[in-house]
Amino acid sequence: MTEQSSGAEAPRRFLFLDASSRVGGNTEQLARLAAESSLPEGAEQQWLRLADHPLPPFQDLRHTGDGSYPEPVGHERTLLEATQAATDLVFVAPVYWYTLPTSVKLYLDYWSAWFRVPGVDLRAALRGGTVWDVTVLAGTADKAEPMIGTLKLIADYMEMRWGGALIGNGTRPGDVLNDEQALIAAKSFFTS
Ligand SMILES: Cc1cc2nc3c(=O)[nH]c(=O)nc-3n(C[C@H](O)[C@H](O)[C@H](O)COP(=O)(O)O)c2cc1C
Repeated sequence: MTEQSSGAEAPRRFLFLDASSRVGGNTEQLARLAAESSLPEGAEQQWLRLADHPLPPFQDLRHTGDGSYPEPVGHERTLLEATQAATDLVFVAPVYWYTLPTSVKLYLDYWSAWFRVPGVDLRAALRGGTVWDVTVLAGTADKAEPMIGTLKLIADYMEMRWGGALIGNGTRPGDVLNDEQALIAAKSFFTS
């Protein structure tokens, strides 16, 4: 007898990586609005604040010993497991100096280590998934281009889809709630 497919698709799992250096900032507020109004039905969501999961300075061990990295522990393990489980990676990242905050950059540097942890296949886990960017900056949206360009290249490198960037304007927490265009875009952001 041949096995019949149940037809039920596995739920999408959105990992929101909050890289703001303050709680309740503009970027988090915008991302929460987008999540409340536009996540696909049945989608699961996990939120992690990178500031709550500090990582030590990254070490390049690729050409040291056999080039493998030790089994991740502590915050590194938490971040790795959340990343492996995600179908959708949402970078909730304010623009800092035109690009990604240090905490996201450090987290991404750790991917280089996770590629080399025996028994971990991060590329396979992420392949076919989607990368999203939610960002807020004080200046004009074009100044977010280096950040967006970086994330698009990473998506491409990882054979992931680029979902898009939701860009808001603000300086003090709450400012983004006055950015009507961003609020409208948030309503349908994750449906693209
Ligand atoms: C370290 C730092 C660097 C920043 N760099 C930029 C920048 O390059 N361009 C810009 O328009 N705004 C910049 N800003 C302003 C923030 O993007 C803005 O205040 C944003 O609301 C911060 O996000 P949050 O409210 O989610 O914490 C910077 C803020 C900080 C703290």
